[in-house]
Amino acid sequence: MSMSMAPVVRTTPGASAVLSGFVFPAIELTDSDRQEWKEIFFDSVITEYDARRLYWHLESSYPDVFNLLQDVLNPWLKDEIDHAYGFALIYASYTQIPFDEVSLSVELRKPDFSVIESIAADPLKLLVTLAYDEIITTHVYHRSIESYDRFDSQQLSQWIRKTKKDEVTHFFAFVQKAKALFPERLHEVPAILDEIFEIDFEKESYTGTFVLDHNAPDFPLAKHEIRNLIIPAIIKKFSE
Ligand SMILES: [Fe+2]
Ligand SMILES: [Fe+2]
Repeated sequence: MSMSMAPVVRTTPGASAVLSGFVFPAIELTDSDRQEWKEIFFDSVITEYDARRLYWHLESSYPDVFNLLQDVLNPWLKDEIDHAYGFALIYASYTQIPFDEVSLSVELRKPDFSVIESIAADPLKLLVTLAYDEIITTHVYHRSIESYDRFDSQQLSQWIRKTKKDEVTHFFAFVQKAKALFPERLHEVPAILDEIFEIDFEKESYTGTFVLDHNAPDFPLAKHEIRNLIIPAIIKKFSE
């Protein structure tokens, strides 16, 4: 049996446990709030879903990179599949759209990986990109905790905390992997982050790549926060 077949241990309970029998709480919302939450939940489904597309893309187009990183990609993918499932359960209950229709609309989208080709060919760049993405997602979910708590649902409150915890776990896993594989290249990390930041903010819209999807007007983290707070924090983690 190969290493990659070893069971993947998760540190948090899965969606089927946290959201067992989940029914969206009956709450009064204005029409615009109702619409906004619909978009937030759907965006969460698709960005989480697209982890598997990125995984498959790496596997088919960058097999050497994929093989090198498979032991960090597998536990990550397992969590992201779980996140997509959980957000799809929430979205389906919230919208009253049947779960299989939600799944279909997610599957029918077409990914475009052209923006990340220059990154995916270099395993260090890829790891830094994944770390960048995971720490941003951590901050986004962290900021969402208060508004999730306002639904007054223990399941939703537990769900957003669990996903946040998983994202920060992913961040550390990618940083550790980069440090273990490329100790002699870590001085490149600041320049790589500059490049990633530029790609992230020159794109017009989300293209289904899982990573680099932060250039939306309603994105809960501002560009200057990513540049002035998050990127320096990532650099610090790489230099510890
Ligand atoms: Fe996730
Ligand atoms: Fe993640």
